[in-house]
Amino acid sequence: QELKMNLEQIEKGGYDHFMLKEIFEQPSVIKDTYRGRLHANLGLIQMAGVEDNLEKFLNAERIVIVACGTSWHAGLVAEYIIEEFARISVEVEYASEFRYRNPIINKNDVVIAISQSGETADTLAAIKLAKEKGAFVFGVCNVVGSSISRETHAGAYTHAGPEIGVASTKAFTTQITVLAMIALRLAKAKGTLTNSDFHRYLQELELIPDKVAEALGTNDKAKEIATIFKDAPNCLYLGRGYNFPVALEGALKLKEISYIHAEGYPAAEMKHGPIALIDEHMPVVVIAPKQGHYDKVVSNIQEIKSRSGKIIAVVTKGDTQVRELADYVIEIPDTSDALSPLLTTIPLQLLSYHIAVMRGCNVDQPRNLAKSVTVE
Ligand code: G6P
Repeated sequence: QELKMNLEQIEKGGYDHFMLKEIFEQPSVIKDTYRGRLHANLGLIQMAGVEDNLEKFLNAERIVIVACGTSWHAGLVAEYIIEEFARISVEVEYASEFRYRNPIINKNDVVIAISQSGETADTLAAIKLAKEKGAFVFGVCNVVGSSISRETHAGAYTHAGPEIGVASTKAFTTQITVLAMIALRLAKAKGTLTNSDFHRYLQELELIPDKVAEALGTNDKAKEIATIFKDAPNCLYLGRGYNFPVALEGALKLKEISYIHAEGYPAAEMKHGPIALIDEHMPVVVIAPKQGHYDKVVSNIQEIKSRSGKIIAVVTKGDTQVRELADYVIEIPDTSDALSPLLTTIPLQLLSYHIAVMRGCNVDQPRNLAKSVTVE
């Protein structure tokens, strides 16, 4: 027993929990994910699974993404990135819904299955169905040799290394990294991005690991904010555009490990319901980077403030406007709108981590949850 405990300590590499270790691994694993694939200096993206099947991607009338949980959120980010960069229509479905609703899928569709474990039963079943209907199925998995990686026609691994914490963190950011590279490769082939934009995105992606490292510097700030909100019964997360899925993911992280009820919403949808919940007891996490619909998000923040909601804002370094309105701000480095989820998600992971620790929850193995769900 003692030996087992010592071993676990070693595996945690000096961190109190696997989740925190995995959060802090993100700069290096994102680099592992793009190593050998992203060549910013040459203006190249090289991914064997994409290259070998380029025609299939280019002829696709649409791409359908199937996934569950956090991987589904990565799929939503990918939808925005692929549509923007490569101008291919993308739909994102919960694998569990897709598999049971006789979906319209034909030979010209490309289905992308995203799964950290590569073992999720619903995602696996969705793949089998898509294959029966003649689609080309591409996997984005983390676990090498997993069932989904074997069942798909081709794929790209995320190379995030083992993820032990049940709440997914580094899998999410590496999935987005892979999917952004795919989008860029397709954009290059289709000519849907200008040459200068294409090169700029490559360079910005290359800089992401350093910026994630900088974003991890918000750990103390996240801990400080956690002490204030750890007893809140509810929490709302708002974001727009690329950061709407990050709002969903931030809320999921909080629910999973701290058991606080949290909801993610597109900021503009607030007026169609959630605004009724806002009073002085409601913490509202707003993702408000400079690049993405900033003015619109600022007016959403004003609406929350006038109803006395407590505002925790994730902003771009140097921001002044939101700082004046928000109760707490967390600063992250600047990047383009499309890549911002890779940075905005970091303080939200840290925030939920610290809140869960302060509430005495079992961070790495939250109640009722499993790391991979191999049953329906
Ligand atoms: C479980 C895990 C989640 C994960 C989801 C999908 O619910 O607790 O963290 O996002 O499964 O898992 P997958 O391995 O397919 O990405």
